[in-house]
This record gives sequence, structure tokens and C-alpha cells, in this order.
Amino acid sequence: MSGGVYGGDEVGALVFDIGSFSVRAGYAGEDCPKADFPTTVGLLAAEEGGGLELEGEKEKKGKIFHIDTNALHVPRDGAEVMSPLKNGMIEDWECFRAILDHTYSKHVKSEPNLHPVLMSEAPWNTRAKREKLTELMFEQYNIPAFFLCKTAVLTAFANGRSTGLVLDSGATHTTAIPVHDGYVLQQGIVKSPLAGDFISMQCRELFQEMAIDIIPPYMIAAKEPVREGAPPNWKKKEKLPQVSKSWHNYMCNEVIQDFQASVLQVSDSPYDEQVAAQMPTVHYEMPNGYNTDYGAERLRIPEGLFDPSNVKGLSGNTMLGVGHVVTTSIGMCDIDIRPGLYGSVIVTGGNTLLQGFTDRLNRELSQKTPPPFFPCRACD
Ligand SMILES: Nc1ncnc2c1ncn2[C@@H]1O[C@H](COP(=O)(O)OP(=O)(O)OP(=O)(O)O)[C@@H](O)[C@H]1O
Ligand SMILES: [Mg+2]
Repeated sequence: MSGGVYGGDEVGALVFDIGSFSVRAGYAGEDCPKADFPTTVGLLAAEEGGGLELEGEKEKKGKIFHIDTNALHVPRDGAEVMSPLKNGMIEDWECFRAILDHTYSKHVKSEPNLHPVLMSEAPWNTRAKREKLTELMFEQYNIPAFFLCKTAVLTAFANGRSTGLVLDSGATHTTAIPVHDGYVLQQGIVKSPLAGDFISMQCRELFQEMAIDIIPPYMIAAKEPVREGAPPNWKKKEKLPQVSKSWHNYMCNEVIQDFQASVLQVSDSPYDEQVAAQMPTVHYEMPNGYNTDYGAERLRIPEGLFDPSNVKGLSGNTMLGVGHVVTTSIGMCDIDIRPGLYGSVIVTGGNTLLQGFTDRLNRELSQKTPPPFFPCRACD
């Protein structure tokens, strides 16, 4: 199909958006991705695993990758977890290929050579990595056409804009990326490591302080209902395999991420102990049955995103809060385009789904910036 020109909606293109937290893939034009699974994969040296290939298992040069939620969640002796991405860019190509193979065979269920591919890439991706990826897609998968696009540009287009400031807060980083006429302005990119993983770390510390054990569901054989705040009453599964530390840690993180999404809320105005104490509490039950109400801590933890100065354990506290990330980024762009950027701040990424995130950002920006200011939210 060489030399073909693709246009219109009927080309059956596939879209891959591979982030540090999850892989999203599906057909262009559909409402939601066909595949949405963790980017983290389980890794087992082949001699330890049997020769049998089950769903979600890919064997490559002496390694078995356990890909997708189901395969990853099975406890196995010595299986480690790993991610093919580092800093949003592809680092481990073998593992990356295993993910693509899995997506094509188990989710797309069609030949790669029939579908053009649109893939998202980090705005700071390097030329060498782009070339390698393009080569991989054409030579190994034999795809008919390929387009690599920066995540921020795709977000802006998805919101019907070619100019705007995209604030992306995912798992590993929060970034403000100015997009002008469909191009990323590289000099204006501002990155901060305060994102979803940082919030998970804070939650872990909270559980430690409150002496709450994080028990992932795979360890639990049975549990009894207990009163609020009472010690949990649960039975551990017998004959659990000797799982690796990294895998156990990943399972604990999943428990924490659920807590994060269900309980935490960003406060409307800068955090105030007394105001926070008045806020309604939220009841949450851990997988092992321990349940209690969470009050001020619900607001205190996400506050670090907007005001890192009071967060324990951050060295030097030179990190920028979300509001500052946006204003610094716009400040680094040409003065003529600043109003256009302030006029369309687009918020995207899983971490921005925290309750109250956009309201707080609106408030901070409208205090710092001249009107008119119309922020909007991207649909994830
Ligand atoms: N409903 C929710 N409420 C709060 N946090 C959430 C919610 N859903 C997802 N998250 C958090 O969002 C993060 C994942 O975001 P996202 O899927 O945008 O990341 P990614 O694009 O895969 O990674 P990155 O952009 O860092 O490369 C995780 O830390 C997760 O805990
Ligand atoms: Mg992302």
C-alpha cells in the first residue's frame, strides 16, 4: 500500500497512547480505547516459567512478559515488575515490543499491516528514539503509514484548539506544554515531578503514621466485617508463592491508587487546618476490611501539588506548584502569544481527576493572571 494518501475517517487507523501508567489503544474515531491496561509488566526468566503460553504471556529471548491486568495480577514465584518507559520515553525496546504484540493480538485482533498508526510521544522525545520507533513500526509490524504526534498537540486538537497551554498531570510528572498553531513550543515546557506517584507516596506515609497495614487483595483468603476503626479480621491465603518485592509493592500501590481516587480532594483555597477539619469526612474500607473516616488528611495530601513548600521530605522545596508551572511556562513564551495561551488552558492526565483539581487551578490562575481567562478541561 506504499504511496497511499490517507484522509477522511474511513482509514481504520489505530491510535496508541502509551503513558508511564497505562497503555491506551484503539481505533481512531471510536469513543473509548479498545485496550486500556497497565504499562507495568511482570517479568520472569524463561527457565523458571513453563513453556506454556497463556493469555497475556509473551516469551522473548529467555524472558516471559506478563502483560495486561489479568496476567500481571497472578502471584508468581520471583516475577519482577518493570516498565518499558522512563521519563515518558521508551527505554526498554524488547518490553515495548511485547506490549505492542499483545495489543495487536489480544485487543485489536487484526493484522498490523492493514492499519495506519497514530502514536503519541512525549514532547521531549529525542530524535534517535523517534527514528528507532519508526523503523520498528515499519520493519517489524509492516504498517502502511505512521504518524507520531506530541501528546500535548493531540490534547489541544481533541479540544478543538490549535493554540493553548496543555497542563498534563499523569503518574510520573506534571507538565505545562505551550502549543501554538499545532506545534509545541519547546522552550516553554515546564516539568515538575509532583504528580500521581508523588500523591501515592504521601498516602503511603499517611498509612504508616496511622499504623494502617496495606494488604493487597491477592493475600486475602477471607475477611469478616468489623466496626469502624477496629482492627481488621482477615485470613491470609495459604501457600502463596514467593513473590518479589517489586511485584508486592506494585499490588500495594494499586490499593493506594484506589484510595487516592476515592478519598482525596483538592481544597478550594490554600490549605487551612481549621477549615479542613470542618469538611465532610469520607468513609473508606481497605481490602482487608479495616474501615474508617478520613477528614483533614483528605485535603492535606493533594495540597502538596499546589503548594509544595510545606511537604515533608522534599529537598530544598524548590519545586513548583501546579499554578506556578502554568504561569512559568506561559511566561517563557513570546509576549504576543501569551493572551492566547492564558485564554485556553487545557487540563489533562489521570491525576487531574482528583476532586477539586480544576477548581483550585482556576482560582489560582484567575488571581495571578489578567482577565479574560477561560480554562477548560480535556476529556480523558
Ligand atoms: N479518578 C482518579 N482520581 C485521582 N487520581 C487518578 C484517578 N485516575 C487515575 N489517577 C492517577 O493518575 C495517574 C495516571 O495518570 P495517566 O493515566 O494520565 O498517566 P500516564 O499518561 O500513563 O503517565 P505519564 O503521563 O506520567 O507518562 C496515576 O497516578 C493514578 O493514580
Ligand atoms: Mg500522560
